[in-house]
Amino acid sequence: MIFNAIISLTIIGITSAHMEMSWPYPLRSKYDPQATSADYSMTDPLKTDGSNFPCKGYHTNTPWRSITTYTAGQKYNISLAGSATHGGGSCQLSLSYDNGTSFHVIESIEGGCPLESTYNFSMPSDVADGDALFAWTWFNLEGNREMYMNCADVTITGGKGSPDSFESAYPDMFVANTGNGCKTVEKQEIIFAQPGVQVIYGEGVSSSSPPFPSCS
Ligand SMILES: *[C@@H]1O[C@H](CO)[C@@H](O)[C@H](O)[C@H]1NC(C)=O
Ligand SMILES: *[C@@H]1O[C@H](CO)[C@@H](O)[C@H](O)[C@H]1NC(C)=O
Ligand SMILES: *[C@@H]1O[C@H](CO)[C@@H](O)[C@H](O)[C@H]1NC(C)=O
Repeated sequence: MIFNAIISLTIIGITSAHMEMSWPYPLRSKYDPQATSADYSMTDPLKTDGSNFPCKGYHTNTPWRSITTYTAGQKYNISLAGSATHGGGSCQLSLSYDNGTSFHVIESIEGGCPLESTYNFSMPSDVADGDALFAWTWFNLEGNREMYMNCADVTITGGKGSPDSFESAYPDMFVANTGNGCKTVEKQEIIFAQPGVQVIYGEGVSSSSPPFPSCS
């Protein structure tokens, strides 16, 4: 399913630094009423040396607690909070069935992300059932070269696939600016080489935009 250029009606208020996912509640989110040790710096990016990739490391030291259940084939949305949108950039929504070892993309938002505070996505029908980490990642257009990543514990039901079939059908999450040899370039739109099947295009970006940066 392809969603074409969807323009926002929502303006994000100017209050605090950077951005974070506020729904589904990420691990350690201050928005989660049941979080025991909230990270009040959730809007900070990952460290550039990769030492807290993925998920700021919270998947390794936070007890598993499912935040929400997604039914395969249904439509949902994520919410983002914060104000320093750094001119937008590109985002991905991904799932990990192996406790954060690999993440595979279910939706890419190329250009203009996160200039809106809500993004819709479909949970594909061929995902696997069970516990998964749901990740929002963001590469900012302006400012320091950074990667933002928040992860939520979720449960998936009604999927037609297995973790193996999901992992081979859906592309690897794009990773950069975390000491892995791949870097984005300020003010150049990040176009994922493998965005997956659900793609939302921002202004000036289309399905024919060449991948950038090219990282093997
Ligand atoms: C994920 O791995 C961490 C250790 O790295 C472990 O504490 C946790 O229980 C694991 N979670 C699941 C769902 O397997
Ligand atoms: C997001 O989904 C929730 C239901 O989960 C719904 O109440 C809300 O209106 C949706 N927001 C938008 C902007 O579509
Ligand atoms: C998101 O989905 C809701 C219905 O759930 C719809 O009303 C809204 O128009 C959608 N937003 C976009 C930007 O497609």
